[in-house]
Amino acid sequence: MDSHSTSVSEAFSLKSFVYDQFGENHANLTRMRERVYAAVTRHLPTGSHLLEINAGTGLDAFNIVQRGYSVHATDLSDGMIDAIHEKIKMHRLQSQLTAERLSFTDLDQVQNGRFDAVYSNFGGLNCVEDLRPVTQHLPKILKPGGLAIWVIMPPVCPWEMGLIFKDWRVATRRFRPNGVMANVESVEFRTWYFTAAQTMQAFGPQFECVGLEGLSVVTPTADNKTFAVRRPGLFNRLVQIDEAISTVWPFNRIGDFFILTMKLVS
Ligand SMILES: C[S@@+](CC[C@H](N)C(=O)[O-])C[C@H]1O[C@@H](n2cnc3c(N)ncnc32)[C@H](O)[C@@H]1O
Repeated sequence: MDSHSTSVSEAFSLKSFVYDQFGENHANLTRMRERVYAAVTRHLPTGSHLLEINAGTGLDAFNIVQRGYSVHATDLSDGMIDAIHEKIKMHRLQSQLTAERLSFTDLDQVQNGRFDAVYSNFGGLNCVEDLRPVTQHLPKILKPGGLAIWVIMPPVCPWEMGLIFKDWRVATRRFRPNGVMANVESVEFRTWYFTAAQTMQAFGPQFECVGLEGLSVVTPTADNKTFAVRRPGLFNRLVQIDEAISTVWPFNRIGDFFILTMKLVS
């Protein structure tokens, strides 16, 4: 592993011990995850066999198998893979959920293929500078007509930009051309932000876009747990606006994340 991957793996292995706890009683994060599950269930019939990359502790894999899918969950960090194995054991999910430690840049080595879809949630793919080492393997591991459903952090995030007078660094960080240092559990590593157009381009001509929506366009970012508690009325109003505009241009490509669905067509 190169030094960047070693740092990412170390950081998220440390994070794995507290990761699920942060999501408890987090109304906005729960809502955002539900939007991602809706994208999966809208595009794929139950019974589909899915590959999750950068799966974290397996929260999404667990929720998606509850909805009738089988999932092979992969991640770079040992700590995250241990957490997925714990969920498999605790909930006796051996027949629906499997786990493997694997970088998403090595998808040609994945076990348990081929897949109806490859999904990635909440910015794991923002840990690489170039998405092509990931996309290059997809035609080999997807079934014909297979999908990639990727949740990626774009440069334009209105909520963060609204902090311009309060925290200039946060408000402008996504626009830095050489990426931004992230600090996770006191381990630093570089991250990068991608526009929807850059992400689509990384897929190349074998794929076409079949879905694009903004995720948290006007609502708080995923790391904000308090706004929904302190201002529930305003939060609910913003959620209504968010739901109404998320698929409309240009809001379908901005926000804390966008959800891009690409289909393998040739
Ligand atoms: C912000 S967490 C998201 C986890 C999960 N998808 C979720 O929604 O909770 C980012 C994850 O990406 C993983 N990751 C980062 N770089 C990776 C790589 N090259 N290959 C596989 N996983 C990677 C990290 O280990 C971490 O678990």
